[in-house]
Amino acid sequence: MAILISQNGRLFTLQTRNSSYQMLADSCGTLLHLYYGKRMDGEDLSDLILRTDMGFAGNPPQAKEDRTYSLDYLPQEAPSSGVGDYRDDMIRLCGADGSRTAQFLFESFFVSDGAQPVPGMPALYDTEEESGQTLTITLQDSCSNVRLRLIYGIFEREDIITRSACIENSGTSPIVLEKALSMSMDIPFGSYEMLYFAGRHAMERTALRTPVGRAGVRIGSIRGTSSHQYNPAMILCDPAATETSGDCYGFCFVYSGNFLASAQKDQREQTRVQMGIHPDQFRFRLEPGEVFHTPQVIQSYSSEGFSLLSRNYHHILREHMCRGAYKHARRPVLINNWEATYFDFDLERILSIARQAAQLKIEMLVLDDGWFGKRDNDNSGLGDWFVNEKKMGGTLAALSEKIHDLGMKFGLWFEPEMVSEDSDLYRAHPEWALAVPGREPNRGRNQLVLDLTNPEVRTYLLERLTDILSHAKIDYVKWDMNRSICDVYSHYLGPERTGEVYHRYVLGVYDLLERFLSRFPDILLEGCSGGGGRFDAAMLHYSPQIWCSDNTDAVNRLSIQYGTSFFYPVSSVGSHVSACPNHQTGRSVPFTTRGHVALSGSFGYELDLNRASDAEKAEVPAQIEAFRRYYDLTHEGDYYRLAAPGETGHMAWEFVSKDRSRALITAVKTESFGNPLPMHLPVRGLDPHRTYRCSMNGAIRSGASWMGAGLTVNRILPQYESILIELNDPDPSAPCASPG
Ligand code: GLA
Repeated sequence: MAILISQNGRLFTLQTRNSSYQMLADSCGTLLHLYYGKRMDGEDLSDLILRTDMGFAGNPPQAKEDRTYSLDYLPQEAPSSGVGDYRDDMIRLCGADGSRTAQFLFESFFVSDGAQPVPGMPALYDTEEESGQTLTITLQDSCSNVRLRLIYGIFEREDIITRSACIENSGTSPIVLEKALSMSMDIPFGSYEMLYFAGRHAMERTALRTPVGRAGVRIGSIRGTSSHQYNPAMILCDPAATETSGDCYGFCFVYSGNFLASAQKDQREQTRVQMGIHPDQFRFRLEPGEVFHTPQVIQSYSSEGFSLLSRNYHHILREHMCRGAYKHARRPVLINNWEATYFDFDLERILSIARQAAQLKIEMLVLDDGWFGKRDNDNSGLGDWFVNEKKMGGTLAALSEKIHDLGMKFGLWFEPEMVSEDSDLYRAHPEWALAVPGREPNRGRNQLVLDLTNPEVRTYLLERLTDILSHAKIDYVKWDMNRSICDVYSHYLGPERTGEVYHRYVLGVYDLLERFLSRFPDILLEGCSGGGGRFDAAMLHYSPQIWCSDNTDAVNRLSIQYGTSFFYPVSSVGSHVSACPNHQTGRSVPFTTRGHVALSGSFGYELDLNRASDAEKAEVPAQIEAFRRYYDLTHEGDYYRLAAPGETGHMAWEFVSKDRSRALITAVKTESFGNPLPMHLPVRGLDPHRTYRCSMNGAIRSGASWMGAGLTVNRILPQYESILIELNDPDPSAPCASPG
């Protein structure tokens, strides 16, 4: 049983394979958090809480004269607001009388089979192999008559617990929600560090680690997207935690808009962790009877360090979040014309790239920005989703036929959520753009954001996309979104509901994507937002791969893809081989290394192969062959980080097949020194009792020996060179050269 309930329905223990999570509705009705950690048997752990007189803290009326009972220190699951808990609250509402108080007390619970969907938003779903169980605990604020339902989903075998909440106005007057987080949890003991993933456009998700003290750590986004600057996921860990040891708790937000994630120690050194929609610019009005649903948070606990935690997330996102035709099917190797041509192309230029690509066994051509409306630079045309037949030398149908005749699939770029002021769409519907009446809006990349809260706008966009897709053979769509949102005001929602725009915008994106995919279920969708500005678990529900960064420099990609790997599976990472000197950094890196780095992703090319050297061109078919050969490892296998950026002068990572019969190690030399030292790599995840042969030097050893002693690269790699090393069945007839 994944959910144990005792003490007359007041003690709840959620059990996963390796973790337990315990809560108690105490005699006053407060839902206490007692434990989250290594699996135990479900015994009542409330004796861990020592109640002492808290002096200046408030004592709620339910505690009568007991001065040791205070919400200001009790570890809780859903901290109330304005009633004596001076730490961060979880749900804040403004009642009809203008007060901002709510004390949510236990009312009831129920258990249901299966994972519970979150209305209007992505959430983990059941599969035939594994379905979840759900515990719903209802709390009530008796004064305002608002009910708070805390929803706990358990995927037992996967070591995953999900949290979300819904807030129901069961009263008779409207309320305004000013804060509605998805989860809050107080860890009563221990000191922690927060590992989070921060960056900027073209340099996303650098892993940063910082102690959580009394001053707290907060990350978030108020840009309307989950953002380049902070990814909506974090890990709370033991300060000594490593890849292979130590307690760590993961929190991954299934949401693509504004978010807040925080951890802070309180006066008793307890750590409060929270995650949810950012309360800035958030005011959501709930009429009597209306319900607000928060997005889901995916939690996981590992007592064995980050590596296991990451594998838990890779598995759950791959199996229970991604969906559609390409969930497991091998993705085509693509070539994208963006860095090859930018806006400067015509039919012949595209066809010449396609012809060269087809010869080299590339499987799909993706036509990026510039094929529609008046779009020869990024100042105009967005919104006018009509093919520019003059520039394209004919119809898209004809072009897509020609590409298919070359034996390739055809993909197309869209940026549906945006509008240029210099567009027919904007001239016809200026009120469809988000802008505050009377205030000239900020432009981002010289464009405005369409009001996706407005169903008419969404229907228009769906019609345009449908029209284009039904008139040409299109196998893939890159769905881009190239600016942060500000100047928030919706003509459709009006002044009363301005505080709802950010959230309703995200719901609008999900609605549009859902309808789009139900019309075109076989399309491979790749998400994008100026590269990795909307790389989150929710987008993976629609697009199994996301363009990881506009930075294609293989060396910068090492740290970007490293940071991305803590939560997101390699199968979701859009990664391409591009030209050198690299367009973002000016750096030159060997073609082989660029291939090895892109291999740890969806794999493709982003350059004009007509301008590549003969040696580079000769290498393309072998790279594609390697991508195919290792697909089951890179896209379905287990992933291990073997080095961290800046630690050792090299980066390395490993894939192990699900049956542990094969492993693939990639190592890249990032820094060179005089009198160089050997590159020694750990090896992980093998079966200790099996033997494996190393493709680099032919050595045959047991899994235990590879994992115990590691592996030394048999030559000194020059800077930026890389090596692929395979460990597999010691069949003596197998070749022993490096397969790269
Ligand atoms: C964004 C994307 C790029 C490219 C351009 C086109 O920056 O991340 O890959 O598609 O838009 O304008």
